[in-house]
Amino acid sequence: MGKVTVSTLKNMKASGEKFVCITAYDATFARLIGAAGAETILVGDSLGNVVQGHDSTIPVTIEHMAYHTECVSRAAVDSLVIADLPFMTYTTPEQTMVNATRLMQAGAQMVKMEGGVWLSDSISMLVERGIPVCAHLGLTPQSVNVFGGYRVQGRTPKGAKSILADAVEIQDAGASLLVLECIPQDLAADISTKLDIPVIGIGAGPGTDAQVLVMHDLLGLSDHTPRFVQNFMVGQDSVQSAIKAFVDAVKSGEYPRDEHSYT
Ligand code: KIV
Repeated sequence: MGKVTVSTLKNMKASGEKFVCITAYDATFARLIGAAGAETILVGDSLGNVVQGHDSTIPVTIEHMAYHTECVSRAAVDSLVIADLPFMTYTTPEQTMVNATRLMQAGAQMVKMEGGVWLSDSISMLVERGIPVCAHLGLTPQSVNVFGGYRVQGRTPKGAKSILADAVEIQDAGASLLVLECIPQDLAADISTKLDIPVIGIGAGPGTDAQVLVMHDLLGLSDHTPRFVQNFMVGQDSVQSAIKAFVDAVKSGEYPRDEHSYT
C-alpha cells in the first residue's frame, strides 16, 4: 500500500473508507499486522498490562516506550507508527517536547497523549516543530485512579459535552488524530461527524472513522475481556488469519456491532 501518512488517513476519512489500528510491541507482530493491511500500528502503553504484567499503564516509562517503538518501527514498513507518551511524561510543553522527540527518534511517526483542553499548548508546540499528535479522550487509562476504575465515560450530559469540547479544542490545537475510548456510541459518532480529523474508536461503537484494539485482546489471549472486544481467533487457524479477519471486519463494517458498544 506504500507508506501511510496523515494525508492517507485524512483522505480515507473524506472518502468514508474505514481504517485500522492494532497495538504491537515487537517486530514480529508489527510485520504481521502490516502484512494484514492495518494502516496504523500503536505502540501502546498497554504494554504495561500485556507485556509487563502490571494492572495499569502507570509504571510504564519513556525508556520502555522508546525500546518497544524501536522494535516495532524496524518492521513496520507501510503502517504509520504511533507511540504513546507514558504517564507523567507530558505535564508541560517543554517536557512533552523532550519525550516526544525521544519517541520520534526511536522510529514513531506520531505520538499519542491522553487528555483534552489542558494539552492544547503542548499539541501546538509539537505540531509547529514537526511532531504529529494523536490525542486520546474518554476512558484514558492513565487516569484510572481519578476515575475510580475502568469505567465508561461521557454518559451524563455534562460529561458528553466536556468530551465534545475537548475534541474540538485538540483539533484546533493541531492534533492529526483522536482516539475515543469507552464512550457511548452516539457521542462517538457525533464527534466523528463534527471533526475534520480522523477519529479512532475503541469501545466507542461503529460510527468512528477507524477502530483500534489491543492485539492480545483480538487474539483472545487476555484474561479479562471487555464488552467491546471480539475474539478474532474463533474460526481461524492462524494468528495471521485472525489479524486479517479483524482488519476485514473493520473495513466492511461488520465490527464493532451493537453488542460491542455502549449506549
Ligand atoms: O495503550 C493502548 O493500547 C491504547 C489503546 C487502548 C487505544 O491506548
